[in-house]
Amino acid sequence: MSRAVILGTGSCLPKRVLTNEELETMVETSDEWITSRTGIKERRIAGRGEETSRLAAVAAGNALAMAGLTAAEIDLIIVGTITCEKGMPSCACLVQKEIGAQNAFAFDINAACSGFLYGLDLADKYIRSNADMKILLIGAENLSARTDWSDRNTCVLFGDGAGACVLTGHDDERGLLGSRMFADGSLWELLHMDSALSLNPDLGNAESNGTHIKMVGKDVFRYAVRAMEDAIYQVLEQEKISIEDISLVIPHQANIRILKSLADHLGLPLQKLYVNLHKYGNTSAATVPIAMDEANREGRLSKGDLVLLCSFGGGFTWGAMVIRW
Ligand code: ACO
Repeated sequence: MSRAVILGTGSCLPKRVLTNEELETMVETSDEWITSRTGIKERRIAGRGEETSRLAAVAAGNALAMAGLTAAEIDLIIVGTITCEKGMPSCACLVQKEIGAQNAFAFDINAACSGFLYGLDLADKYIRSNADMKILLIGAENLSARTDWSDRNTCVLFGDGAGACVLTGHDDERGLLGSRMFADGSLWELLHMDSALSLNPDLGNAESNGTHIKMVGKDVFRYAVRAMEDAIYQVLEQEKISIEDISLVIPHQANIRILKSLADHLGLPLQKLYVNLHKYGNTSAATVPIAMDEANREGRLSKGDLVLLCSFGGGFTWGAMVIRW
């Protein structure tokens, strides 16, 4: 049976660095508070020419170069994003144009921080029915555009960036072994963002108070740990794999305390979890592919390794999957 195998990874971060010290001048906060409560030291902020689709296109180009493929060889582009610069067309269509992937069909997935994992789950299903397909999967966000920069509860957490990978089918032992994906829409109010066009001011029904990210941090924290742990145990049981056999966990990067708590619950040393949130903060759908690309380029992923991905985000959406690298 053919499974989705990752041929190449890539990422792209905006140039501008926003440090905790700079945030101290913007809201009543401190480097000490942000570092101790979140682990984040700095994040990247997109500027002109670094719109979501542009970051996504550069990340895609880097992944294609590693895979040794041209954009014209790609059959499908999927982008996980909740912050494309356009409501229509999709970010995936903008990327298609930008990189010249004229033979691909293209669409976005809205699953917040789980967008990349949802996309990988879907890409694997396409590949299991057509092993020759070459799929470009991207997670890309410009959360700084949807952050309330006067709200210290949220503005210290988020950043911008994009990560990508190229997938195709392989018949050997490698590839995406299995996944468990979940959602619970009943909890949407704990983490959400209004759509800019959800109401029609012309009809007098507009009562939106802005389109910023709103969050009940403590509840999100609690659910995130529990849900990711549960998804991980479910996928390990499904694939008959023991947690001790996992070489590296690449988790969604939201908060170091969430990751420490997750590592504790799993009985793993924190070193088994790849962490880069101190540099980029939470970039939603982009955290896992950026982390995967960095881990890959640092040589932390070797052929045959069992790699565990997990995520949790707005929706709520969450999931876990195991890849034999
Ligand atoms: N600087 C200084 N003080 C702050 C800041 C800040 N940036 N933000 C909040 N505070 C204050 C609060 O106002 C509160 O003050 P009060 O007691 O006088 O009211 C105090 O710090 C404690 O606030 P708490 O909300 O209790 O702090 P907590 O320890 O829960 O940490 C945090 C807050 C970091 C948001 C935490 O709840 C968290 O990480 N939650 C997960 C949220 C998350 O990661 N969301 C991302 C999207 S979802 C995802 O990706 C998983």
